[in-house]
Amino acid sequence: MRQPVVMGNWKLNGSKSMVTDLINGLNAELEGVTGVDVAIAPPALYIDLAERLIKEGGNKLILGAQNTDINNSGAFTGDMSPEMLKDFGATHIIIGHSERREYHNESDEFIAKKFAFLKENGLKPVFCIGESEAQNEAGETEAVCARQIDAVINACGIDALNGAIIAYEPIWAIGTGKAATADDAQRIHASIRAHIAAKSAAVAEQVIIQYGGSVKPENAESYFAKPDIDGALVGGASLDAKSFAAIAKAAAAAKS
Ligand code: PGA
Repeated sequence: MRQPVVMGNWKLNGSKSMVTDLINGLNAELEGVTGVDVAIAPPALYIDLAERLIKEGGNKLILGAQNTDINNSGAFTGDMSPEMLKDFGATHIIIGHSERREYHNESDEFIAKKFAFLKENGLKPVFCIGESEAQNEAGETEAVCARQIDAVINACGIDALNGAIIAYEPIWAIGTGKAATADDAQRIHASIRAHIAAKSAAVAEQVIIQYGGSVKPENAESYFAKPDIDGALVGGASLDAKSFAAIAKAAAAAKS
């Protein structure tokens, strides 16, 4: 049985007071909630504050981050390393998000290097994949997801997916309010798992596959009712403690 993982991707949002209110709000909302791993990825500048607030709240939240470099130290201006993330207790690190692929020209191969370096440093990649609207309309969704996953499998081997998280996020559903239907998401998740199972049934059985793209408290339950949807990567709705906690609780209830 896979324990669901619900993760909040805060993107470029936050201030000291917002981070404090949101994490304190989550600490209260998640009191007594079990059966789900709840993670947050604040902007890097607030990871220190987040670590302290999570501890004060009794460690109900897992700390994550939105990016990593592929070096641990050196002359790499503006970057942030796995060693540094570990120094603050961050474990779940988002890579391959479509916004990084698009605005920072990150290639499948570069993302595979990040994946490998996170694993080498004992961190958990939250590896985002997903198709554009044009690719979706052209019926290329499964092929795009397979290509993105194969970049990691080719670079790191199939066993590298053990303990990793895959986040299937159709790009056209991110921040648009136009979420994939639960049936469509389940179909793609099943195809992703089958693609992995062709290389290793054991890895496919344990790998967490999250859905992401306009997940809200109103639609969360419909995704978690599906057998191959093991949680969610949540953007907009993760900025509100009640909404994000409601999504986490829906995952816990559906998978219990
Ligand atoms: P959204 O973002 O929930 O605001 O659609 C999801 C994501 O980008 O991870």
